[in-house]
Amino acid sequence: MCSSILRLSVVLLALAACQWQAQAQAQAPAPAPTGPANLTGILDKAGQYTTFMRLLGSTEVGNQIANQVNTSTEGMTVFAPTDNAFQNLKPGTINSLTTQEQVQLVLYHVLPKFYSFDNFETVSNPVRTQATGNDGEVFGLTIVSIGNRQVNVSTGVITTQLNNALREKSPLAVYQVDKVLLPNELFGAKSPKTAPASSSSPKSTDSKAHAKAETPAPVGASAADTEANGAFAFKSLGMTVVAVVGLITTALLF
Ligand SMILES: *[C@@H]1O[C@H](CO)[C@@H](O)[C@H](O)[C@H]1NC(C)=O
Ligand SMILES: *[C@@H]1O[C@H](CO)[C@@H](O)[C@H](O)[C@H]1NC(C)=O
Ligand SMILES: *[C@@H]1O[C@H](CO)[C@@H](O)[C@H](O)[C@H]1NC(C)=O
Repeated sequence: MCSSILRLSVVLLALAACQWQAQAQAQAPAPAPTGPANLTGILDKAGQYTTFMRLLGSTEVGNQIANQVNTSTEGMTVFAPTDNAFQNLKPGTINSLTTQEQVQLVLYHVLPKFYSFDNFETVSNPVRTQATGNDGEVFGLTIVSIGNRQVNVSTGVITTQLNNALREKSPLAVYQVDKVLLPNELFGAKSPKTAPASSSSPKSTDSKAHAKAETPAPVGASAADTEANGAFAFKSLGMTVVAVVGLITTALLF
């Protein structure tokens, strides 16, 4: 009886030791999945964002974000359109914009606040972006959480679904978007120059929302990692408890 308890303790201790070792190995490269809040680095590493990166550079918005991420207490959120998203635009869409409009377009993809998927569930619409019109009116987005880590983003011109976070850790969240977010203020039916401020809140839950069947992109590696890490931490905690119990049992036996 005693010896079987002893053997069990030894096994438990050995298990715990293994777990600790595994944890140490897993935690060594831990900063990698989240990494620094470096937008360029994140997009560069993810690939498929060359057009957006080029625009971040040419409009100087990239530098602005880098500075703001460091100084803002609210953090930031960036919707990064893929190269495919830009390719799916009508040819010349970006080039037909003035320099100022290109800046507005890029700023429209930036929110002056950090939002995790969970935060989107309680967001109040319209959500302000960094883009503003000539009179300082803020361009808004309508963001609706539609399920577990699935969020619809509407501009009034297009609706797209978020399901892949390239980074989701304060102060910077970066989400993949499969469509360029075309602001109503620049691409809506009304001429941008004459559009009154009243049109600035996009009617997102419109019936026009095409029932286009879209294949959601697979859940991103970073999101999966986050979950895996969480599960792992939980398991380690469990093993620590087991180890302590094992130690006490062993101590009692001697
Ligand atoms: C961010 O990442 C880019 C590309 O990987 C790199 O060139 C740059 O030095 C990084 N900046 C910082 C502040 O780490
Ligand atoms: C932001 O802060 C980090 C460290 O806190 C620093 O390495 C980086 O150079 C800063 N970047 C800017 C643009 O100020
Ligand atoms: C979310 O957006 C997709 C298009 O990306 C659309 O098909 C779907 O109906 C939208 N769902 C809701 C609840 O708005």
